[in-house]
Amino acid sequence: RILVLDFGSQYTQLIARRIREAQVYSQILPCTVPLATILAYRPQGIVLSGGPSSVYEKKAPSVPKDLFDQGIPILGICYGMQLVTHLSGGDVVKAPHREYGRAELVIDDRSDLFKGVGEGGSTVVWMSHGDRIERMPPGFRSIAHTGNSPVAAMKRDDHKRRLYCLQFHPEVAHTPEGSTILRNFVYEICGCKPTWTMQSYVDTAVKQIRDQVGKDRVICALSGGVDSSVAAALTHRAIGDQLTCLFVDNGVLRVGERDQVQKTFASQLHLNLRILDRTNQFLDRLKNVIDPERKRKIIGRQFIAHFEEESKKLKGVKYLVQGTLYPDVIESVSFRGPSATIKTHHNVGGLPARMRLKLIEPLRELFKDEVRVLGKELGLPDEIVWRQPFPGPGLAIRVLGSVTKERLAILRAAETIVEQEIRAAGLYRDIWQAFAVLLPIRTVGVMGDQRTYENVIAIRAVTSLDGMTADWAKIPNDVLGRMSNRIINEVKGVNRVVYDISSKPPSTIEWE
Ligand code: XMP
Repeated sequence: RILVLDFGSQYTQLIARRIREAQVYSQILPCTVPLATILAYRPQGIVLSGGPSSVYEKKAPSVPKDLFDQGIPILGICYGMQLVTHLSGGDVVKAPHREYGRAELVIDDRSDLFKGVGEGGSTVVWMSHGDRIERMPPGFRSIAHTGNSPVAAMKRDDHKRRLYCLQFHPEVAHTPEGSTILRNFVYEICGCKPTWTMQSYVDTAVKQIRDQVGKDRVICALSGGVDSSVAAALTHRAIGDQLTCLFVDNGVLRVGERDQVQKTFASQLHLNLRILDRTNQFLDRLKNVIDPERKRKIIGRQFIAHFEEESKKLKGVKYLVQGTLYPDVIESVSFRGPSATIKTHHNVGGLPARMRLKLIEPLRELFKDEVRVLGKELGLPDEIVWRQPFPGPGLAIRVLGSVTKERLAILRAAETIVEQEIRAAGLYRDIWQAFAVLLPIRTVGVMGDQRTYENVIAIRAVTSLDGMTADWAKIPNDVLGRMSNRIINEVKGVNRVVYDISSKPPSTIEWE
């Protein structure tokens, strides 16, 4: 495996992904871990990420100096390169101007790291740095240059120290041959073999879950979303009937959601599934509640209460399955600290401690797109594997204002049309989320010769990579037109449709 030590770059996760795409397992650790921890992973290679600091700052993050003497090949990227330089006796200085964006890289040594790269003379790379190498450390030599940087890449290749450094970012899409460079590092220099596949992941995870659980019973809160579905299917593959899944119908689900879960998990996978219809209990508590945070808290609390009550009926439950993904795990070890709470996310976070359950998190090493591949591998249908994200508080935060059965019915009808038209236009997988929002106002319209005074539906559609930032989707006008027409004609009680053209930030994806 390859370890990626994180110095706080926004691209750190991309490095790990690119290496995994080469079918070599890679894992991210914060740069602050001690040498013993690093060595305990027995890495075949180590990548030092970029980062926002300067090596000559007082509290600049660093690595244990002995790291370079372990005989493990190391690749320093951007800040990682400056750190290697600094610690090995070279000089790093502030560049007269920050170097940002595209640069033409000329390769001077194609023997290993740049094998097959830039054969047409030069190759495009993506730079983003404010410091540069003034003097290489002893023993290093330059292996590539650009117009601005005589040392855009360097190496020191002797038995004891195999150190490679890049001033640019090979992990980003703007460096077209970046994947080849990273592959060269892991295959040629570290000697890794491309053996990390989803099938091997399933085998390992199945064995781990069996070892962990023994003969105990396990429960899982199944929502029908990709993460909990794949986590449940994988756990089921490992321990079969020792697993029971609970699906709580909270009354604020979309059309067909509950049936889909029933069909996939009970009928097709023959998994122990209990469906609890708690529609009335949820809707009673949501009556006349307008404040979004209160809605979220009520739904979260109510969910936990029902889940707890039902699981008490099962004897001998010791574990809870959660679909935690790798990005959540990394965020919690990042040394940049947590960000402010913008919205209270509904999840099952409070459950394990309350119910004294131990956690099984079979996806905690995977990225979202890997989870989808895994879902396919486990035989889940496309409707689940490619489902767009859906918030835990469901339609309650898309019916703005008071949530009633009547208003939910209007929203569901509109939402179904939005989804159908997005799918029909072939946009479903390219768009992060597309949905309808029912506004708490009425406006005047005219239908036939009659004045109407009815509801407004807002359509929200965004593109995003991770939900953290998002842009409004540039859906073709005719698709928007069809949605608007159909909603106004087919959904009783709606006489106006608007399209939300705000990005996140400063807006958020959901309206509440
Ligand atoms: P916002 O509205 O904060 O949403 O821009 C970012 C992403 O998170 C989803 N979302 C939630 N997901 N529980 C979830 O599991 C929640 O409470 C929740 N609230 C928002 C939202 O749909 C978007 O994908």
